[in-house]
Amino acid sequence: MTRRILVTSALPYANGPIHIGHLVEYIQTDIWVRFQKLRGNRCVYVCADDTHGTAIMIRARKEGRSEEALIAAMSQSHQADFAGFGIEFDHYGSTHSEENRELCGQFWKSLRDNDLIAERDIQQLYDPEAETFLADRFVRGTCPKCGRTDQPGDNCVCGHTYSPTELIDPKSTLSGATPELREARHLFVELDKLHDFLAGWIDSSGALQSETANYLKGHFLANSLRDWDISRPGPYFGFEIPDSPGNYWYVWFDAPIGYIASTKQWCDAQGETLEDWWKSDDCEIHHFIGKDITYFHTLFWPGMLKTAGFNLPTKVRIHGFLTVTGEKMSKSTGTMISAETYLKHSQPSYLRYFYATKLTPRVEDIDLGIDEFTDKVNSDLVGKVVNLASRVGKFASATGLSASYPEDGGLFATAAAAGDEIAAAYESCDYSRAMRRIMELADAANPFVEHAKPWEMKKDAARQDELRDVCTVALNLFRQLAIYLAPVLPDLADRCGELLGEKITSWDQSKTPITGTAVAKFQRMMDRVQPEDLKKMIDESKELSAEETKQDALPSFNDSDQPLKDEPLSDEITIDDFAKVDLRVARVVNAEHVPEANKLLKLTLSLGGEERRQVFAGIKAAYEPEALIGRLVVMVANLKPRKMRFGLSEGMVTASGPGGAEVFILGVDEGAQPGQRVH
Ligand code: MSP
Ligand code: ZN
Repeated sequence: MTRRILVTSALPYANGPIHIGHLVEYIQTDIWVRFQKLRGNRCVYVCADDTHGTAIMIRARKEGRSEEALIAAMSQSHQADFAGFGIEFDHYGSTHSEENRELCGQFWKSLRDNDLIAERDIQQLYDPEAETFLADRFVRGTCPKCGRTDQPGDNCVCGHTYSPTELIDPKSTLSGATPELREARHLFVELDKLHDFLAGWIDSSGALQSETANYLKGHFLANSLRDWDISRPGPYFGFEIPDSPGNYWYVWFDAPIGYIASTKQWCDAQGETLEDWWKSDDCEIHHFIGKDITYFHTLFWPGMLKTAGFNLPTKVRIHGFLTVTGEKMSKSTGTMISAETYLKHSQPSYLRYFYATKLTPRVEDIDLGIDEFTDKVNSDLVGKVVNLASRVGKFASATGLSASYPEDGGLFATAAAAGDEIAAAYESCDYSRAMRRIMELADAANPFVEHAKPWEMKKDAARQDELRDVCTVALNLFRQLAIYLAPVLPDLADRCGELLGEKITSWDQSKTPITGTAVAKFQRMMDRVQPEDLKKMIDESKELSAEETKQDALPSFNDSDQPLKDEPLSDEITIDDFAKVDLRVARVVNAEHVPEANKLLKLTLSLGGEERRQVFAGIKAAYEPEALIGRLVVMVANLKPRKMRFGLSEGMVTASGPGGAEVFILGVDEGAQPGQRVH
């Protein structure tokens, strides 16, 4: 039976370029969509730019152009990046569209009608020069407790937390002006009224991975759900709330509705009806998202859909985050690689394949190691798959394919039979397993050519029929691999189709060999990865971000009032894993600068008695050494000592915060004893 499937990826923010982290998601989704299409299902892939919010407004002002001009340019560059990686949307829209405004109005009305909206006044700082309300992170000032200057709006390095209104001499980081306290009315969705519905949906719909369902039950559903602040007073780049003049829907209200608005635009262009895709019983809806936006897609969004009478997602497919050589992507090390920079130095198919080998149905982070990347592409794709074709390609152009499929020891039949298993792996987003199975088939196929030695047959006029048979087998086995890999490597599938004179359009083509036809002139299909190119790519990313930092006086635009997303959770560990970390209370008995180091302080920690540890901690921007002496901290006491340029580091001190000046050492109340275990 043909399924009807609507697929979305998260709508990328219009305040920055696409990078290789985003691409995990768009490549993952594109593979799934291509797979469905190859299987003969009716599958529609929609996406859009997420364009609203303070960040866009401020950026547009700074660049001296309208928000509309800014988001139009961004949308173009995003779409060019996606196209460069072979990511094919059926429609790419924008949340700043009339369709979206109209749908937001519908959702809003149904929330009102169902008595889910509450109004409350909130006190907030306002920047009279920038004429905008300020999120806490946009305010800095002097700590009311210890008097340190230039502290952020919600807490001080001394550990004191406060509201930005308590800061002494507060300043807006946008304009430098002194903010005023203003009261503003905000509108809230009373989500807890949908508690039972959401708990039931999470439990029994089968839409969520089990780890996600457990996370939601443990973190959110165990208590009552907080009201969700979904309005922002103007000026705000977004849609004004029709029955609340001067107030705008918060960006996260209109963003997911953008999925529907984009579908609507596609429907209008295709002569389809929206109801068939969002309100029909026989249509599936699959959202692909990253783990940082789980909350929005598994609580708010289902609540909104339910209230407004739209279908709930069949699946919310959540992936982990990309790390590069084991670390979070970072500008300073050049691992924050933009799509554009990647394409300048490397091939999209390499990244598509590499991600495919890494992606599983679980919410796990995936790591891009440069050596592993090089090795996988060169040994699997070039060495096993393409090699199969290139060893016989030239001969085959001369011989053509045999009239009937020759004896091959069961290779073709075995690979044809593996099709169902590989398809099941794609279907469940277990691309890693699919790739492993495909490479096993490639491993089985290659020895056939090695043993047959077609290059020897070529020299012997009496063996041309034999040669043709070998070519026929090798190219048909290659074609099966190209079909199975087509969702990941559409270009390779196209080249295979050109070589053998039959386009690859359906999964079932893997079941029947091609025989008796001519073979086109053989063209090179894929080159090896050159590690130097990857090095250039990283170097260039480093340079680009250094320039950007120089030019950009404003705080990074991730510091907008777009929500501080949950720091994505790391992979789950067992209690035994946790027990391996020996956390102890320690007293800082000495702290000093390390003259040669930019970021480090040298700490001497006492674990009680005579036990002393020397630890180098990257907290120089956040703390004066004197301020630390005497404090009780939590340290990882059984960390393997690490030799650093300045000496041995024998442990780690726990701290929190994004980095730089905003690092907060986790303290322990006086009374605890150094050396005591932290449970
Ligand atoms: N605009 C919101 C989504 C609104 S959906 C109604 C947003 N945009 S984003 O540009 O920050 O991220 C887009 C997608 O890319 C998200 O699903 C996010 O999880 C994903 N990724 C962003 N960085 C990533 C990595 N480093 N690794 C993997 N995925 C990442 O969130
Ligand atoms: Zn302070």
